[in-house]
Amino acid sequence: MKKIVEILADREQLVARSHEILLAKLAEAVQTRGQFTLALAGGGTPKPLYEALAGDDLPTDKIHIFWGDERYVPPDHPDSNQNMARQAWLDRVDFPEGNLHPMPTGAGDPAADAERHDAELRSFFGVAPGEVPSLDVILLGMGDDAHTASLFPRTEALQVCDRLVTVGDKDGQPRLTFTIPLLNKARCVLFLVAGESKRSALAQVFAPEADADAYPSRYIRPEGELWWLLDEAAGKSIDH
Ligand code: 6PG
Repeated sequence: MKKIVEILADREQLVARSHEILLAKLAEAVQTRGQFTLALAGGGTPKPLYEALAGDDLPTDKIHIFWGDERYVPPDHPDSNQNMARQAWLDRVDFPEGNLHPMPTGAGDPAADAERHDAELRSFFGVAPGEVPSLDVILLGMGDDAHTASLFPRTEALQVCDRLVTVGDKDGQPRLTFTIPLLNKARCVLFLVAGESKRSALAQVFAPEADADAYPSRYIRPEGELWWLLDEAAGKSIDH
């Protein structure tokens, strides 16, 4: 794993830097592998990045979009990560619908939908049971409690290592989430973390020793590159 930490002056510069890195990774993937597989994060931080991408002339026929996690709500629900990304980017450009691979939330059974998406990922990437595919880039945010995707502190999802997708639990609310093995197989993980409220969680995530079950972002150690893009407010006292 190669770890890169950059502290940007403010959110705008953090978004601009993440945009620059993504476009470089996209070009490299399309040139070397003929396609770019990207998993989006939910929450508020990445939304301006998606809006910036909507202004780019991209080879959307070669880009496949996934989500690292999803709230267990219909796709048109205001809390839906799919809905946010579609409004900010995907529905504003000519993405082939077959290139968008949202997490299903329609079965009324989160575990069944998690299994269904697990199978969809295996089919798309052509991996056998037991194998884990590598996405080119997985975008992640981090909560004030150091959760990432929908891997919340001291939840069962943190222990799931035999599947690609599982059910997360946020205060009793079900979510679907990539598992730690899938996240850690990525060629590149890009954390976007902004705001003073993230400072104490970041200190625990960057500490030499701390309980990863209490601070789940500590579990993210991808085989490829691990980028932490922080704004000054979040990363001020980080020793990196
Ligand atoms: C979600 C996200 C979640 C998010 C963090 C940070 O579904 O909400 O996947 O993991 O990335 O909670 O959210 P902010 O970017 O809004 O701080």
